[in-house]
Amino acid sequence: MDTADPTRPGVRAELRARPRHVASALALALLIAGLVVSSPGPRSAQAVGRLPSCDLGNVYTVPRGYDDWSVTLVDRLLRVEKDYVPPDLVHVGEAGLPGGGHIRAVAIDDTRAMARAARAAGAPIGVWSGYRSYEEQVQIFNGYARENGLDSAITYSQRPGHSEHQLGLGVDFMSAGGGNPLPGDWATTAAGRWMRDNSWKFGWVNSYPRGEGGARWNDRTCLRYEPWHYRYLGREVAAKVHRSGLTIREYLWRNHTLLDSSGRPIATPTPTPSATPSRSREASTTTMPTVTPSERGVPAAPSVEPTVASAPATVSQYDVDPLVLVAGLLGLAGALALVGRAWARRRAR
Ligand code: DAL
Ligand code: ZN
Repeated sequence: MDTADPTRPGVRAELRARPRHVASALALALLIAGLVVSSPGPRSAQAVGRLPSCDLGNVYTVPRGYDDWSVTLVDRLLRVEKDYVPPDLVHVGEAGLPGGGHIRAVAIDDTRAMARAARAAGAPIGVWSGYRSYEEQVQIFNGYARENGLDSAITYSQRPGHSEHQLGLGVDFMSAGGGNPLPGDWATTAAGRWMRDNSWKFGWVNSYPRGEGGARWNDRTCLRYEPWHYRYLGREVAAKVHRSGLTIREYLWRNHTLLDSSGRPIATPTPTPSATPSRSREASTTTMPTVTPSERGVPAAPSVEPTVASAPATVSQYDVDPLVLVAGLLGLAGALALVGRAWARRRAR
């Protein structure tokens, strides 16, 4: 119980000071809350325009920093540089997976857990193809183009710079000990079915599902059905993509890609890149109309370098709500002023 006598001068001063202490505490709490709310995580874009058509193009995707791995989108239009080589590639054996190839270390723990779960379910998986450099994709794409013609090749193989394999996050899975997953429908095998139903829980999502009415061509992914090709997005983004009912391409375009439908950056990169809209706009399942990007008819040959390259390579990883930041800073300034006044008074006494 408080037995202080409010008529005593010292106690009166203490009581007067209390509201200020409360104000200081509130200001500090506001600042701390602001900093907690703005902790690092995948950035979100607020408005990025309509999904581009499936026309071929060569636009550097944004974001595409190595730390932006979970939200970097590549497709027929968007690409990364020739020398984009993830810095943390590790052999898939680290995840306990049979087969060959490499993936980014950021995916290893979840992939190990996924491999274990698939094994436990009697549907063991392996890796048929993992990371591919730009040059390897040149060889692969040119091989398909020679074999089946360019028009056919671009329906099932991405041009160099446009492949998720170059991100170190795209993997062609196979059934453990089963060899090439390409013939037939891998989704009808035990491993393929298990992956289709469970991979998202471990951060992996199929990049190229069937199209409208079960068609092999999908104009939402701009590619043919590939039941074996999965992309690692991390558990958070993968769960959101799964719940959205959208393809990876649609989801990342709508929520994270910082370009407009013509491939122009939606934020000005000068003087310093700050292309970070403040709030997330969650995807819905409505169909998005398509528009034609300005780069219609860009040659498909892998040797062609991009002509649109004005976007920044990296932008800040922090999604800070400016209002929260301003409130926090004002709070801090107020708290410091109050502390300073109290200190000055104490010294004056
Ligand atoms: N086969 C997939 C689409 C690639 O080339 O990346
Ligand atoms: Zn693939």
